[in-house]
Amino acid sequence: MGTERKRKVSLFDVVDDGAVKMAKPNGGAANAVGGNSLINRWNGRAYSQRYYEILEKRKTLPVWHQKEEFLQALKNNQTLILVGETGSGKTTQIPQFVLEAVDIESPDKRRKMMVACTQPRRVAAMSVSRRVAEEMDVNIGEEVGYSIRFEDCSSARTVLKYLTDGMLLREAMADPLLERYKVIVLDEAHERTLATDVLFGLLKEVLKNRPDLKLVVMSATLEAEKFQGYFNGAPLMKVPGRLHPVEIFYTQEPERDYLEAAIRTVVQIHMCEPPGDILVFLTGEEEIEDACRKITKEVSNMGDQVGPVKVVPLYSTLPPAMQQKIFEPAPPPVNEGGPPGRKIVVSTNIAETSLTIDGIVYVIDPGFAKQKVYNPRIRVESLLVSPISKASAHQRSGRAGRTQPGKCFRLYTEKSFHNDLQPQTYPEILRSNLANTVLTLKKLGIDDLVHFDFMDPPAPETLMRALEVLNYLGALDDDGNLTKLGEIMSEFPLDPQMSKMLVVSPEFNCSNEILSVSAMLSVPNCFVRPREAQKAADEAKARFGHIDGDHLTLLNVYHAYKQNNEDPSWCYDNFVNHRALKAADNVRQQLVRIMARFNLKLCSTDFNSRDYYVNIRKAMLAGYFMQVAHLERTGHYLTVKDNQVVHLHPSNCLDHKPEWVIYNEFVLTSRNFIRTVTDIRAPHYYDLSNFPQCEAKRVLERLYKKREKERDEARTRRRTNNTYGVY
Ligand code: CDP
Ligand code: MG
Repeated sequence: MGTERKRKVSLFDVVDDGAVKMAKPNGGAANAVGGNSLINRWNGRAYSQRYYEILEKRKTLPVWHQKEEFLQALKNNQTLILVGETGSGKTTQIPQFVLEAVDIESPDKRRKMMVACTQPRRVAAMSVSRRVAEEMDVNIGEEVGYSIRFEDCSSARTVLKYLTDGMLLREAMADPLLERYKVIVLDEAHERTLATDVLFGLLKEVLKNRPDLKLVVMSATLEAEKFQGYFNGAPLMKVPGRLHPVEIFYTQEPERDYLEAAIRTVVQIHMCEPPGDILVFLTGEEEIEDACRKITKEVSNMGDQVGPVKVVPLYSTLPPAMQQKIFEPAPPPVNEGGPPGRKIVVSTNIAETSLTIDGIVYVIDPGFAKQKVYNPRIRVESLLVSPISKASAHQRSGRAGRTQPGKCFRLYTEKSFHNDLQPQTYPEILRSNLANTVLTLKKLGIDDLVHFDFMDPPAPETLMRALEVLNYLGALDDDGNLTKLGEIMSEFPLDPQMSKMLVVSPEFNCSNEILSVSAMLSVPNCFVRPREAQKAADEAKARFGHIDGDHLTLLNVYHAYKQNNEDPSWCYDNFVNHRALKAADNVRQQLVRIMARFNLKLCSTDFNSRDYYVNIRKAMLAGYFMQVAHLERTGHYLTVKDNQVVHLHPSNCLDHKPEWVIYNEFVLTSRNFIRTVTDIRAPHYYDLSNFPQCEAKRVLERLYKKREKERDEARTRRRTNNTYGVY
């Protein structure tokens, strides 16, 4: 150790190589390791043994060979593009290089500025920041932190912050020039998430106004020329990969059931192939948990002919402690000299480029991922299991060759790979509902959306739809300008519909309840339904059930959780997920703080009042009036705005089929489902002129006529009364 650290990298005004010699008070040589121990400049403590161990590993990463070159390029340019294979050390090392070389004192020397590194995925932001804190030998949340929606793990001492791209965008709303940052690293740029794409355009502007700010755009594979063109010819640095060859296998025939095929392939590899860990790509939590169970069972059925396995799931809603398991080593053989153990990671496409797991030799790629799709005509955004792109398939196979030659089993035919897969995944901005993005851009002061410098401009229809929704919600006026209401709505890290529901809830005297409902809708599903206890779980859920719908049921669960003192064993006994409820409680507190900032009062209707639930429903409708469906005479539901045939999702807890329902989510599968639904009786909030012709419209027209008639009659009665001078 030491040699690397002693070399001063003088590039910027004040430079420190990350460590200083520790001097004894009496002026003698420092103690500890070999007499020249270094102290950590960030926290003033002597480096631990672990620090030096990791440092040796870090130095073998490909980016270390280009450290000087990188720092030189950073010094000479405001924007820099860095492309390197997954696992070359971009995410963990580059921000540390930057920290070592750049003076992070603010120009007035009063405070420290920060280095930011964005990640499209929450899991990656958490996991990588933990790793980097360890590498820098500091505590997570102190000098190195992370920030994801509803969870800020950073402090006044933080100098390196990993954050989701969405969070950086939110920060820009309060701090338009991002003045707390000295260098911003946009990582995983190839993912082209919605927030990253918006940040591209935004940062291009910010850079013009902040000559002292620097931007590093990092990516695994990327259409380098396109990025260079967009960033005005910024220099491109390539970190050569050190991938070992990966042999690719295709199936002869298309697989009917990719899950079953994936499990079969895992078992075959485990029986027949030499040691090496396996990575399986699947599409979501349920499928992954199912696969983990089946793999464990099949392997245990084979007894001691085969080695032991450690099967670990990886998906975004997994608790952080479980996420760390992917980095644990494979289990040792049961008996010395017995068949070797294997680690089997079953993951969503998080493991495609965001997280690198060392030791993977076999990859199983069924060729699917959950992807967002948006149909602006019917305003439906949905997550659909869809075929991946060739670029993704290439990335996935690459994961097998990190440490030694590997094998990738594609569970589709070679013909299908060539003919059916698109070359690249479409950028998210081209397949998303943009209401939230447009609200954010408006709040950022970008009024001319058509001329905003998008790398790939979204379809005009999608932008129009977004403007229209925001106008209906009252967030934009008829000229497209942000209203006062819109300003407040934009401060909530939620969809515009939900923000609207929250902001208006005090008017309906139910903000406490709407806060709870919103919090519950913002966390993963809280109901647990273990295979071995499905009946008991269903009965438990039924006890919380509110016959009028799921939103109200969620409210019941939250209330019961609070009444039972947030007790984990109560949660366990009642088949609700303690972690989800705790998260909801946390989300709720944060939303309360935002409400307080805008003097939105916290209030409830008396629980015994007939209006208690009526008011909650009214507030819900004020936000979600575009998400209403009507029961037609044919027995199915039609969405009111866009006339789509939909079905109530089987998870609903209604005891009847209400005439009108409000729904939280449109789920596109083989059938169209609406999920999380509540009976809302007769809605009377609609402007019928832009309604399509359907039964719902006729029903509403009849309702309105009836109401008008009643009103007329009431007026006549009052007039009659007035003859007595009472009025
Ligand atoms: O960003 P890029 O894909 O280029 O690489 P990285 O994420 O910086 O990973 C560099 C190395 O750090 C890999 O060998 C990872 O396995 C390792 N790493 C780790 O051991 N534990 C983590 N939590 C994250 C990364
Ligand atoms: Mg990375």
